[in-house]
Amino acid sequence: MKELLSRYPVSPQATQNTHINADKYQQMYQQSIEQPDVFWAEQAEQFIDWYKPWKQVSEVNYQTADISWFKGGQLNVSYNCIDRHLASKANQTAIIFEGDEPTDDFRVSYQELHDNVCRLANLLKTRGVSKGDRVCIYMPMIPEVGYAMLACARIGAVHSVVFGGFSTESIKARVLDADCQVVITADEGVRGGKKIPLKANVDAALVDCPDVHSVIMVERTGVEVNWQDQRDVNYQEVINHYEPMCEPEMMDAEDPLFILYTSGSTGKPKGVLHTCGGYILYAAMTHKYVFDYQEGEIYWCTADAGWITGHSYIFYGPLANGATTLVFEGVPTYPDAGRCWQVCEKHQVNIFYTAPTAIRALMGLGDELVEKHDRSSIRLLGTVGEPINPEAWHWYYEVVGQSCCSIVDTWWQTETGGILITSLPGAVDMKPGAAGKPFFGVKPAIVSKEGDVLEGEARGRLVMTGSWPGQMRTVYGDHQRFFDTYFSQYTGYYFTGDGAKRDADGFYWITGRIDDVLNVSGHRLGTAEIESALVLHPKVAEAAVVGYPHEIKGQGIYCYVTLMSGVDCQQSLTEELQALVADELGRFAKPDYIQFAPGLPKTRSGKIMRRILRKIAENELENLGDTSTLADPSVVKDLIDNRIVHG
Ligand code: WT7
Repeated sequence: MKELLSRYPVSPQATQNTHINADKYQQMYQQSIEQPDVFWAEQAEQFIDWYKPWKQVSEVNYQTADISWFKGGQLNVSYNCIDRHLASKANQTAIIFEGDEPTDDFRVSYQELHDNVCRLANLLKTRGVSKGDRVCIYMPMIPEVGYAMLACARIGAVHSVVFGGFSTESIKARVLDADCQVVITADEGVRGGKKIPLKANVDAALVDCPDVHSVIMVERTGVEVNWQDQRDVNYQEVINHYEPMCEPEMMDAEDPLFILYTSGSTGKPKGVLHTCGGYILYAAMTHKYVFDYQEGEIYWCTADAGWITGHSYIFYGPLANGATTLVFEGVPTYPDAGRCWQVCEKHQVNIFYTAPTAIRALMGLGDELVEKHDRSSIRLLGTVGEPINPEAWHWYYEVVGQSCCSIVDTWWQTETGGILITSLPGAVDMKPGAAGKPFFGVKPAIVSKEGDVLEGEARGRLVMTGSWPGQMRTVYGDHQRFFDTYFSQYTGYYFTGDGAKRDADGFYWITGRIDDVLNVSGHRLGTAEIESALVLHPKVAEAAVVGYPHEIKGQGIYCYVTLMSGVDCQQSLTEELQALVADELGRFAKPDYIQFAPGLPKTRSGKIMRRILRKIAENELENLGDTSTLADPSVVKDLIDNRIVHG
């Protein structure tokens, strides 16, 4: 057996060529912490073109959750992602599109990107969209999703991208919460050979959204769709009537750029709001340094535009740096599980960024599908979304990367806008399974449950001291919730919701969420959302949902369901409930297991003891902990006897 190392030192060769090396990391990090405003002012000048300089670099108050960066400064994000590159890169490829079918691909130059974005921006304007208005984007992974985001940014509209895998109900809730009056969508999406009825989903969602006056639909498959003449606009039919020129709107650094909904431990998903100046600076800077992006390289992030990773590291970061970014419509297993490597070979990809769940799925399907494709163009591999288990890390490193690529682990969140903790290539050693060290300007701390700050080697909860430009600014429409969720637990700190440990070398290891948030194949889900969906069923009285470790997905979904009295629990009901959750939230949220339980373990005050439910779902029965506070301890025996034992 080969020896598996637990630490891979930065190689001297890597140090010579990367933007940052170990010494430079130390020196820049030190400066970023000691004189943050000086540091960030320098970076903001270097990375971003401003119409007007800012008055104040940062103003941060964690007592009131008021955060601003580069206040008074003016810029336009679309200008920074497109126009300023035109002088030298008009003909360089901005986007490589790789379709669901391997024969379907094309390139979009920076000039074409400019023209397409301007035309769509003008179309939006004629539909009455202006600065500050919210636009919902519900699209497959085609270049037009990027045009739509950038067109909004160009005219100062605030986009809210809703993942194409989300259901009608999710679209409706998001359109209503942000009061979107325009939706941009496609007739259908195509993924892994399957069609997704996007326009039909939008039509169904909008039955309850009377304020939406315009739906712009891109034709992807040409399928027959329902049409409302006043409301619906066919993109292809009209787009060439619009001028390929549209003056970018001057935006204040703190004007909103987008809203992106994400799940929390309670309540409905939160509209995470990011603003223009700090966000684009942070996305651009982290993209350059964390992926060690060099001029002319081909960069591919496999995320979907519906997630923050797609926002920051498919579109905004790479385009702000004038990079070539690959947009992939399909899935890693279609037509076969060698697709990623086939695409890397075809487009000579240099930097490849994906999630541990994808790596684990592909690892299980054998090495031949990797090895039959030439991967010599790949120089850097990245991972994001959950802790990567060392076994998957080693496979990624040795088989995919042929033991000569750096792997960057990147820890961050929808809320953080960009990467906060990482193994910066050429600068920080790689430890398989560790997220790494803080990026410039980032000051993590570990606190105990009670809030004591722990020094040195420590295990506890991960918080951030101070702000960074990419931090979210508020929960859309609910600033109190922003404060309550992130700043009320530990006074003076941003609370991440993650558990973590810091080792003797100062590396951070993420141990997972400490709240009721699940991470299923990199999709973030609140257990409360799944429970709310389950109790919609007329036969369900109560539901409690927990996660359990899943070999490929990271976490699986295990539901305990109490039925109304007199109802029988048949197999057909299990399927009905699985379908109900998939309909309400999206297919990725479909429960793995449903256990019918006559009673749930509750305290005398009625609080469900999830700790016990988690143990039973994990089949860890030895150590159920203290059950003496249960109102009815006998329910536990029934739960154990009827548990679903899984592999
Ligand atoms: C949660 C945030 C940020 C892009 C994707 C997810 C987990 C994320 C890592 C990593 C360990 C990670 C955390 C975090 N997470 N990256 N490299 N190592 N855990 O964004 O949906 O907002 O989820 O994902 O638990 O809190 P998100």
